Amino acid sequence: MYTTTNYTIELFDRSGNSDEKIELAENVQLGFQKRPKELSPKFFYDERGSQLFEKITRLPEYYQTRTERKLLQQIAPRLAEEKFVELIELGSGSSSKTRVLLSAMTTSGELQHYIPIDVSGDFLLSTAEKLGNDYPTLQIRPVAGDFLDGLKGIERSGSALVIFLGGTIGNLYRSEGVAFLTTVAEDMAEGDLFMMGVDLVKDPTLLHAAYNDSEGVTAEFNKNLLHVINRELDATFNPDEFYHYAFYNPDDTRIEMRLVSKSKQEVNIGKLEIQVDFEEGESILTEISRKFTKASVGSMLSDAGMELIEWWGDDDELFGLIVARKERSGL
Ligand code: AVJ
Repeated sequence: MYTTTNYTIELFDRSGNSDEKIELAENVQLGFQKRPKELSPKFFYDERGSQLFEKITRLPEYYQTRTERKLLQQIAPRLAEEKFVELIELGSGSSSKTRVLLSAMTTSGELQHYIPIDVSGDFLLSTAEKLGNDYPTLQIRPVAGDFLDGLKGIERSGSALVIFLGGTIGNLYRSEGVAFLTTVAEDMAEGDLFMMGVDLVKDPTLLHAAYNDSEGVTAEFNKNLLHVINRELDATFNPDEFYHYAFYNPDDTRIEMRLVSKSKQEVNIGKLEIQVDFEEGESILTEISRKFTKASVGSMLSDAGMELIEWWGDDDELFGLIVARKERSGL
């Protein structure tokens, strides 16, 4: 709980009985039975992982964040005109890019509520405190929860802009992406709009560089998943016994990030009471990051009951911001 000059910011927990630790345990248990072995990128983001990701966003090779920020600056005045009362952000992280929208929508718009939703409750509350000070006219209502649950459990009080930034939609396989967007669309009202950031199909060399940065920050970020499993599940991974490997797979226009075992090795996962064997050269798929075209985003949205109405892109066609609305049924 945190009290600003005029109201109290409280964290609303909508995660129900889903416990992060149990989810990680299940993900590890199931993922290591798959071939290739697979883990969810959701678990990268403990405190260290979140810091490493922030560092990635400032790397010269990682064009995504700065390009998206520029696009947000362009689109902000147009969104302010829509007079939205609420801004709901799925997977808000540090909310740093969102400030561009908050400024425009409070000064020339009618924004009253900012509802950031993120899994990391502590991080969320400290972000909310700072925002509360910087935007004194705004009610900040942070919600601890998984972005995959869309708008479930969110109390509404007027027309909303729902945003999902950063290109995180690319972490989901197409069918998962459609299911997620369908969940969002179901709870959207008429007059609401949805805006999403998507990383675009481009020269694979640029993509490769963005996920194989020269400072090795992405490699550290990737290996952090093993540190998380060691700590949370009493496992015995030696992260140095794995190579970071990220490559572009054009068959599904996606980056695949993997951890490749340097040797034949056995790892114990204490809390699960299992032993996991790795062959020399065997890999764990830790993240996919799909890249889109206007056509592929449009078709995914349409399969989810949404209609793409605007497309904002930079001149180099690196990154896109799309605006969509719920498809009107029965017309
Ligand atoms: C936060 C999912 C958009 O896919 O580019 C950055 C995460 N992984 N470098 C991405 C990430 C490796 C990022 N997203």
